[in-house]
Amino acid sequence: MNINSAKLIYFSPTQTTRKIIEGIAQGVQIVTVEHVDLTPPDARMQKFAGIHDELAIIGSPVYSGRLPIDFISRLRRLKGNGAPAVIVVVYGNRAYEDALLELRDVALEAGFKPVAAGAFIGEHSYSTNYTPIAVGRPDVEDLGKATAFGKMIREKMINIRTLEQTGSLYVPGNFPLKELRMLSDISPAMQEMLCTRCKICPLVCPTAAINADDPILTDKSLCIRCCACVKSCPAGAKTMDDPRIKQAAEQLSVNCSHRKEPETYL
Ligand SMILES: Cc1cc2nc3c(=O)[nH]c(=O)nc-3n(C[C@H](O)[C@H](O)[C@H](O)COP(=O)(O)O)c2cc1C
Repeated sequence: MNINSAKLIYFSPTQTTRKIIEGIAQGVQIVTVEHVDLTPPDARMQKFAGIHDELAIIGSPVYSGRLPIDFISRLRRLKGNGAPAVIVVVYGNRAYEDALLELRDVALEAGFKPVAAGAFIGEHSYSTNYTPIAVGRPDVEDLGKATAFGKMIREKMINIRTLEQTGSLYVPGNFPLKELRMLSDISPAMQEMLCTRCKICPLVCPTAAINADDPILTDKSLCIRCCACVKSCPAGAKTMDDPRIKQAAEQLSVNCSHRKEPETYL
């Protein structure tokens, strides 16, 4: 099978998923890599070129044990045309529950053929100095594991003559998938005094919830609480200070302090 070229397809507001996907691609030793970043709001309308005779490495963060709905709708715009796909979820050291199973099925529906899967760990979007959760992950050890996983995928692909030869890929998860429970009408607070109007936050917001002309204004109904704005604000003007999120973060920093390790399925 051709594993000289690959498309890295991902949704990654705080960049941990992107890092893992890149680590895997490095291990596969792909010559030509093209990024299909589904994170910016433009991906909701963008026309994507079809995937032909190449490997797809598809990654998403885990939101409440499932996939972010914005990622699913954007991935559905792509046509897999039977291309082999490595599917990856990245979670904040709590649990990935049904996300990998959901990704396998969404990838299949979009015309991809999942051949390998992985669940990796990234710093939790709600991690702060006061409520640290998986800080700094993926770290060197995680990225080493991502590259080693890529090498295993290379071996597997070299030995496959036709994809029909490969059976359905097992990944853990429950069906029916766990019910989606998303909090609404919460968005990070902005401390106007600290804001320098650098306009990084509207640039990194995956749903265009932050007004591009006046970043003080956020449409709460569009915010998916990914914390891209919080983590990228150079002035520390954005904070997720809703009491429900703060309480969740406090619990996670206590209950999920034991380091989890990546899991892979080939
Ligand atoms: C709304 C939301 C829900 C989340 N749910 C989970 C979860 O169920 N389990 C978990 O371990 N981490 C969860 N996380 C943490 C993210 O999966 C984790 O931080 C991931 O590394 C973010 O990926 P990114 O850097 O590519 O955006 C959640 C984060 C957000 C914003």
